[in-house]
Amino acid sequence: MAINRAFDSTSGTRCLDILANTRPAPSHMAPGPDRGELLRGVRLILAPLCGITDSVFRKICLDRGADMVVTEMISSEGLVRNSPHIRAIRDLDLHAGPLALQIFGSDPEMMGEAAAILSELSPRMIDLNFGCPVRKIVSKNGGSAVLKDLRLLENICRRVVERCSVPVSAKIRTGWDKPSAARVADIARTIEDAGVSLIVVHARTQSQGFSGKADWALIKTVKETVAIPVVGNGDVTGPLSYREMIDKTGCDAVMIGRAAIGNPWVFEEIQAAIRGEPYRQPSPAVRVEALLAHVGLAVARYGEPLGIISTRRIMGAYLKRIPNARGLRSQIMGCTRLVDLERILAGYRNQSAESHFQVAENSL
Ligand SMILES: Cc1cc2nc3c(=O)[nH]c(=O)nc-3n(C[C@H](O)[C@H](O)[C@H](O)COP(=O)(O)O)c2cc1C
Repeated sequence: MAINRAFDSTSGTRCLDILANTRPAPSHMAPGPDRGELLRGVRLILAPLCGITDSVFRKICLDRGADMVVTEMISSEGLVRNSPHIRAIRDLDLHAGPLALQIFGSDPEMMGEAAAILSELSPRMIDLNFGCPVRKIVSKNGGSAVLKDLRLLENICRRVVERCSVPVSAKIRTGWDKPSAARVADIARTIEDAGVSLIVVHARTQSQGFSGKADWALIKTVKETVAIPVVGNGDVTGPLSYREMIDKTGCDAVMIGRAAIGNPWVFEEIQAAIRGEPYRQPSPAVRVEALLAHVGLAVARYGEPLGIISTRRIMGAYLKRIPNARGLRSQIMGCTRLVDLERILAGYRNQSAESHFQVAENSL
């Protein structure tokens, strides 16, 4: 079988076991669509968010209007060397909806091997991470550090495209240090010439981190430079910024990250705007229920207390949009059991039912 062939060339067995238990996508989804099909029907994509966009989060966003989702970044080296610690690999749900698998690394051979292994699972695409700004990654020349060296960028892209049986996309920042149209155009051209099928542009350089505003003009530069589809990313938070990004850049689809944390409704809100339909924000009561459901799914997936502990950041983000939840935060953050969380939230709901919940819901 093709999957075993891919594994024969790897060194260990543990990763093999994990992936052998991960069934490929059903036949109606496999093999992945060709280059022209890549974004058919896709307007909104959930961004990869390390430590956040697990299968639970991805499924919730797909149910709320995301057209495609991406895994958090997966170490190519870890995958090929069979690290038993790759959570993202244990957590693939290829049946939930269109899924891209993202890998990072700096060695073209290792990236090619990892892509070959993963592409056997028939995801929608393999995405290459050329955007991560984190020191641990860039100090090993991975993530956005690859953007400093166009030769390396080209070699990684070429090798992955050669080894991959599904389309390949590349997620970039606009460069390493100073934002420049010339530089991002060179980067985009290099990627396209190497055979990559789609580029996602997070419109900040590595040195900009997450500060300031994303420079959408540079997404337009990329769109005008290459013929392959371009996805815009950075600071889209709702229908207005979605529309503005499309109008200003001409990008083919939009990727949303932080605005979806604790607010997966952002996708259905934008989808409604695209259809020209009115949209009613979820009430605080609905948000509380969704928070609880999210944690419940995480507990079903990872057990206790991991399912709760790993969801704390997401819980905090849900709470930001729930009125008078400040006192609730400290209680919730200490929880390690689902029953305790349910009890605290039930108490909050009862307390709030006749006061601010009503007021808040009426004012929406
Ligand atoms: C907590 C966190 C984790 C992230 N992890 C990844 C990752 O694994 N791979 C990646 O390409 N980008 C990652 N990013 C960047 C996002 O995918 C996205 O490019 C960035 O947040 C800008 O989009 P936004 O303004 O919609 O959030 C991460 C961002 C955050 C905040």
